[in-house]
Formats: sequence, C-alpha cells, structure tokens
Amino acid sequence: MTTPLLEINNLNVHFSSHGKKLYAVSGIDLTLNKGETLAIVGESGCGKSATAKAITKLLPSFSSRISGDIHYEGRNLTHLNESQMQSIRGKEISMIFQDPMTSLNPVLRIGMQIIEGYRKHHPGVSFKQAQEYAIEMLQLVGIPNASERINDFPHTLSGGMRQRVMIALALACKPKILIADEPTTALDVTIQAQILNLIKEIQQKTQTSIMLITHDLSVVAGYCDRVLVMYAGKVMENASVYDLFYNPKHPYTQLLLKAIPKINMARDIPLLPIEGHPPQMTFRLEGCPFVARCPHAMKICKIKTPPAKKISNTQSCSCWLYYKESSS
Ligand SMILES: Nc1ncnc2c1ncn2[C@@H]1O[C@H](COP(=O)(O)OP(=O)(O)O)[C@@H](O)[C@H]1O
Ligand code: SF4
Ligand SMILES: [Mg+2]
Repeated sequence: MTTPLLEINNLNVHFSSHGKKLYAVSGIDLTLNKGETLAIVGESGCGKSATAKAITKLLPSFSSRISGDIHYEGRNLTHLNESQMQSIRGKEISMIFQDPMTSLNPVLRIGMQIIEGYRKHHPGVSFKQAQEYAIEMLQLVGIPNASERINDFPHTLSGGMRQRVMIALALACKPKILIADEPTTALDVTIQAQILNLIKEIQQKTQTSIMLITHDLSVVAGYCDRVLVMYAGKVMENASVYDLFYNPKHPYTQLLLKAIPKINMARDIPLLPIEGHPPQMTFRLEGCPFVARCPHAMKICKIKTPPAKKISNTQSCSCWLYYKESSS
C-alpha cells in the first residue's frame, strides 16, 4: 500500500471569540494520495474551509486553536513554526480561494505577483528568467496576450481571468498539493466548467494532488476521485465517487443526493430539502451530530458518537446503522 501524501488524524479546530467557543472541526481524519482529487462536501459552516486553513496554518493564531496531526512527507505540520510553514506554503501546498481578490495583491501587477512568489522559493533565478516563466504560466492558464497582460492589475481583469491568474500563482512553484476552496462558486456556469477543466488538465500534466472543497455534487461527480462528506465539523462518509453516487451509506449523504434536481425529473415532483438545521457548534456535541434531522435515528444516536465504520476498501461511514450491536 502506498503512503498517502497527506494524512490527517484527529484534527480539531476551535475558535474563541468574545468569551465563546466554537468547535468548527471535531476529530476529523483524512488522507490524500499522490495525483488524487479529493472532494470535501457539506453544508455551509460545516468546517470545510477551517480544515483547509488548518492544513496551511492560515487561521488567525489569536482566536483559533488547532490540535491533531497533519502529516505531510514525514513532517507534522502542526509542529512547524511560521517561517517553516512559509517554505511549505506555495512551494509544497498551495491554496486557491473562492474570491481571488482576497488573495491577489490589488496594487501589484499580475506578472510581478508570480515573479515575486517564484523567486522567493527559487532565489537563484534571475528576474528575467522569472518573468519569462510568469508569461509561460499565464499562457498555461489560458490568459491571451500573456506577455502584455503581465502588466495588468487584478481589478482590470474579469472574475474568470482573475481566477486563472490565481491558479497560475498557486501552481507557479509546482506544489505537490493544491487546495481549491470553492474556486468557482463566484463564477458563472460556463466559466466554472472552464476553470475546473483547466485545473484537471494541469493536474494530469503535473500529477498534483487536489483537495477540492465544494458544495456542488455535480462538480464532485465530474472532477473527483474520492469524497469526504462533512457535517457539523465531522466526517460522515468517506467514499469513492462511484460508491457515493451509487451506494451512499450515510443517511445525510442519502438525503443530500435526494435534494439534487435530476435532468429527467418530472416537473411536478418536488425536490426534497433536508428538514431542520445543522446543530450549534458552540459546545462539544454528544452523540451523532445528524440525530435531529435523521429519519433513522435510534436511542444510541443521541448518546454516543458513531465512530467511522469500514464498509469496504473504498468506503467508510460514521453511523450506528452499520454497527449490529446498536439496533434498538
Ligand atoms: N476566523 C474565524 N473566527 C471565528 N469563527 C470562525 C472563523 N472562521 C470560521 N468560523 C466559524 O467556523 C465554522 C466553520 O466555518 P467554515 O470552515 O468556514 O465553514 P465552511 O467552509 O464549511 O462553510 C462556522 O461556524 C464559521 O462561522
Ligand atoms: S448515527 Fe443515528 S442519527 Fe446518526 S446518521 Fe446514523 S442513524 Fe442517523
Ligand atoms: Mg468555506
């Protein structure tokens, strides 16, 4: 069995503000293999971005606390200090966010942003070489007239073009892992497809591992190999894309799939929303976090948190339904 490129065990992220605690991520485990695209899905607020930012240590140090282990190529990232993390961010693990304007420097020309990032991690490279490389990267992500556009400022570009620049910036140092946090949510559907196809195309050339955070299950079906379904800061199901769509095990996953409109669906069949709301995460949850909304809830579900149960080599699920002893 090959060792995963990234292995997370029992990751917890807590926020404290105004004397209140928020348990954003509670004991999640995940692995990411070389060349794989792992999707993280779940409703807004379930801890997807907090997980991504914990990996790259981009959470505010004054208000957040991370515990657990994040193993990347023999190092535990939770033990690294800021300057050690700076040598990993961008070069080894890169991130793309939903809104590129929050990550691009608005007062720096796009070419300079790539040149600076590239030279920071490759100090021996001359300005001219880095500039040629920046043009190459912009061409790779489909920016027309790249040799002229390197002088543009981010605000002069369309949303789709800005996201392309962000991808060029994120991939400039050939990272082994790209974390894309809702990279296309702010874009219209045709641009969304272009950007996702571009990420996939570059991945095939570079063998980059991708963690794609999305709330869109059609994106998962089209672009990912494996899926982690999160709910209230925990992992509900971890499955191959095939198992997730054809054999979903967790009641939350099953309801999520029923809530998607189908192209051949009769017009008078209503969509099935998941009734209720996710729980407050201001205290440590006892039992299954989905209990208040689950049609199969049992007594044990309120009392004890279900551990992940291996269903097959490609699927595991945190639900008491799959533990024989729980039936009551
Ligand atoms: N910097 C922060 N300070 C305090 N609370 C935060 C911070 N970032 C996120 N949260 C809270 O943590 C929870 C999980 O957030 P997030 O990971 O951003 O969710 P998702 O990406 O799944 O929508 C939410 O309740 C959110 O309000
Ligand atoms: S553990 Fe219980 S409440 Fe949670 S999803 Fe399974 S059956 Fe439903
Ligand atoms: Mg988010």
